[in-house]
Amino acid sequence: MNKGTILVTGGTGYIGSHTTVELQAAGYSVVIIDNLSNSNIDVLDGIERISGIRPAFVQADCTDMGALKQLFKEYPGIKGIINFAASKAVGESMEKPVLYYRNNLNTLMNLLDCMTEFNVKGIVFSSSCTVYGEPDENPVTEAAPIKKATSPYGNTKQISEEIITDVINAGAPFKSVILRYFNPVGAHPTAEIGELPNGVPQNLIPYITQTAIGIRKELSVFGNDYPTPDGSCIRDFINVVDLAKAHVKAMDRMLENEGSDKIEIYNLGTGNGVSVLELINTFEEATGVKVPYKIVGRRPGDIEKVWGNPSHANTVLGWKADTPLADTMRSAWAWQCRLRERGIM
Ligand code: NAD
Ligand code: WQD
Repeated sequence: MNKGTILVTGGTGYIGSHTTVELQAAGYSVVIIDNLSNSNIDVLDGIERISGIRPAFVQADCTDMGALKQLFKEYPGIKGIINFAASKAVGESMEKPVLYYRNNLNTLMNLLDCMTEFNVKGIVFSSSCTVYGEPDENPVTEAAPIKKATSPYGNTKQISEEIITDVINAGAPFKSVILRYFNPVGAHPTAEIGELPNGVPQNLIPYITQTAIGIRKELSVFGNDYPTPDGSCIRDFINVVDLAKAHVKAMDRMLENEGSDKIEIYNLGTGNGVSVLELINTFEEATGVKVPYKIVGRRPGDIEKVWGNPSHANTVLGWKADTPLADTMRSAWAWQCRLRERGIM
């Protein structure tokens, strides 16, 4: 059964590609728009090898309203949007704030304008646990206060949530689901798609896998003097395929459930806090591969500990992140090995 067409912005990116696979498996048709600023056209081959279906693809920039309108005319009847397209490097956003505000906010505002014009029923938005800053309590629920953003990137997520809320409250004829991701990690179990970091990875897992394969000499663990059981920071590492599946649940609910609210917010995490040192151990045990590391000073701006309470998503969406962390680590490693086989890195 075809459940209708979904526009996936940023669909050749890390989370967007995994979500496209799950949307197709659930019976949706997918149109991807991506400007390929942080992804590669070959991702479409990976998606097709997994799904047997090649999603429609438009190479264009979501900040280009003309290109967006053209897309909606070319693909009439788009029912829903998932907006992944954004610039996401926290450090870069400190150096180039305008780029971040322009790209992330103009993309969202253009999409919202098109939704009314082209009668799109709902939009799922990729937000982040970064909106909670350093939470007062863990696990953090959706009711926790939003803390002042510590980077322009984080601020774009807060402002985006406010824009969506204002637009819906002003009576826009569509719904929205805001998903706050914790730390998405791992790759598809087929190793056909995964994360493709640009340059030296800033995030922990790609740094671990690149060190394990010998691209980096050693991993720097940023601090072992935090007031946590082993002194390293604590995060909620969520498997990217589990995360992708939550988008399908959110889309189904938004489009099919008359009783769902016009705007809903969900934490997407596992509910478990795992420290950086525990994660390294899990990786080593799961793969049998050593990760040379040294302890260095704290990274400025790091949150000490944050993990999510996903009960709301568990209950209302009927979704749970249940992939064991060891399996997720094996998938990240298999993906790194695949990139090596293909001579990519
Ligand atoms: P990604 O960089 O892999 O994917 C984003 C995709 O959007 C890329 O393919 C990029 O080329 C594209 N893109 C960027 N700007 C565009 C534009 N103006 N027009 C068209 N395409 C554009 O990132 P990801 O990790 O898959 O993240 C997806 C979303 O989830 C982002 O909004 C990100 O902020 C959010 N998020 C990510 C994480 C994480 O840790 N990965 C955590 C929380 C939230
Ligand atoms: C995780 C832990 C580091 C690299 C970022 C964004 C956040 C969200 C997710 C999008 C931290 C430690 C890391 C390394 C290390 N993204 N680390 N050595 O900081 O939780 O969140 O990605 O919305 O907004 O800020 O993720 O993977 O960078 O770090 O010790 O080489 O690993 O200190 O404790 P973070 P991360």
